[in-house]
Amino acid sequence: MQTALSSPKKSLRAVLVGSAVLVLAASLGTGGAAGSVSRAAPGCNRGSLNIERHRYGTAPSGATVHLYKLTNSHCMRVKIITYGGIIQSLSVPNRNGRTRNVALGFSNLDDYVEQNDPYFGAIIGRYANRIANGEFTLDGVTYELPVNNDPNTLHGGPKGFHTKVWDAQPAQDANSVGLELSYTSRDGEQGFPGRLETEVRYTLTENNALRMHYLATTSQPTVVNLTNHSYFNLGGEGTGTIYDHRLKINANHYTPVDSTLIPTGRIARVAGTPFDFRTPKAVGARIRNSHPQLLTGLGYDHNYVLNGGQGLKPAARLTDTKSGRVLHILTTEPGIQFYSGNFLDGTLIGTSGHTYRQSDGLALETQHYPDSPNQRNFPSTVLRPNETYDTTTVFKFSTTG
Ligand code: BGC
Repeated sequence: MQTALSSPKKSLRAVLVGSAVLVLAASLGTGGAAGSVSRAAPGCNRGSLNIERHRYGTAPSGATVHLYKLTNSHCMRVKIITYGGIIQSLSVPNRNGRTRNVALGFSNLDDYVEQNDPYFGAIIGRYANRIANGEFTLDGVTYELPVNNDPNTLHGGPKGFHTKVWDAQPAQDANSVGLELSYTSRDGEQGFPGRLETEVRYTLTENNALRMHYLATTSQPTVVNLTNHSYFNLGGEGTGTIYDHRLKINANHYTPVDSTLIPTGRIARVAGTPFDFRTPKAVGARIRNSHPQLLTGLGYDHNYVLNGGQGLKPAARLTDTKSGRVLHILTTEPGIQFYSGNFLDGTLIGTSGHTYRQSDGLALETQHYPDSPNQRNFPSTVLRPNETYDTTTVFKFSTTG
C-alpha cells in the first residue's frame, strides 16, 4: 500500500451561499479540457463546471444529509448524497446528446435508509464483498464480525460505510469539479480492528470521467477493501434488462465460489466458459447456460482477476449499442466483481418510478478479492499503521456510432 496521505484540501475553492444551496461555477471561458467526448452532440445542453448543494433529509442518527450535484460542460451530471456517499444518479449523453440517468437508485432518503439491500450506488467498507463465517485472524488475533448474509459478513456488515453520513467538502479546478468525503470509523466498528480514517474523493472531469480516489489510514493492523456499488443500465435506469449490453472484462481468470458465494480459493481460467468476456459479449447471451457457477450465483456474481498488474489499467468496458453509451472502467485494483443484479426481484421502486427486476442493472465493483483475509493465495488486504490505503477507479463515459 502506498505513500503518505496528502492534504485533501489543496484544490478547494468553495463558497457557501446561505444554508440551503451552494453553487460553484468555474470561469472557464469556452475552452475547458479536450477529451474524446468534448464536442457536444446535438440535443446536449452544455452547462459549465459547477457544484450545487441541496438538503436531502435527516439520517436516523439525526445528521443532516446533503445532495451534491456535480455538472461538467459536456452534458454529464452526477448526484452524490452524503448518506453512504451514494451516487444517486449519473446522467450521461447518448450518441445524439440526449442525457439520461444510467445508475439505479431511489428518489428519496427514506428508501436508501430502509431498503437499500442492493447497496445501490454506495461506498462499501470496510470490506467489499464477503468474509467467510464473519471472522478472520490477523497477527494471531481472531476478529468476529456481524453476520448479515448467512453465514458470512457482506459489504462491511449491516452498519457498514453505506449507512454512514460522510463529511463533505466540494473542490474544483479548471478542468474538474469534485467532492471529498471523509469518515472516521472507530476502533472495533462492525468488528474491525483499528481506527480507520477514510476519504473518498469523487472528481468529475471535462472528459466525462468520474474518478474515485480512496484513501485510508489505520491506528492498528486491520483489513480494508473499499469500492463503489453502482448498478448501470446504459439505456437508462428503469428501462428493462441489460441483457443486450456488450461487456468486455480484461481478465483471463476468475475466482469460482462455493454455495455461500465465498471463493473456493481456485483461480480458474475463463477460456471455454460463459465467464469469458475477453472479447465483448452480450451479457444475456450465456447467462442461462447450465455452467455450475452460473447456477450457484443465479447468474454472474463473481470476482474477476484483472490482467495487467499494478497502476491504473482498463478493467472493463460496457456498451449499449442502442443508445451508443459506453462505460470504460479503469482501476488500480487487482479484481472486479461482475454482479448481474440477480437478486433484484421486482419489490423495489427505482428513481423514475419503475420496479427493478432481475438484471435491470449490473454492478462492476473494483476490489481486492472477496474473503482475502482468509485466503492465503489472494493479494493481501492488510493495512498497517505506517501505510496508506490508496486506490483509484475511474468510470469514463463516451459514445459509439
Ligand atoms: C455481491 C452480491 C450481492 C450484491 C448486493 C454484490 O457485490 O457479490 O452477492 O447480492 O452485491 O448486495
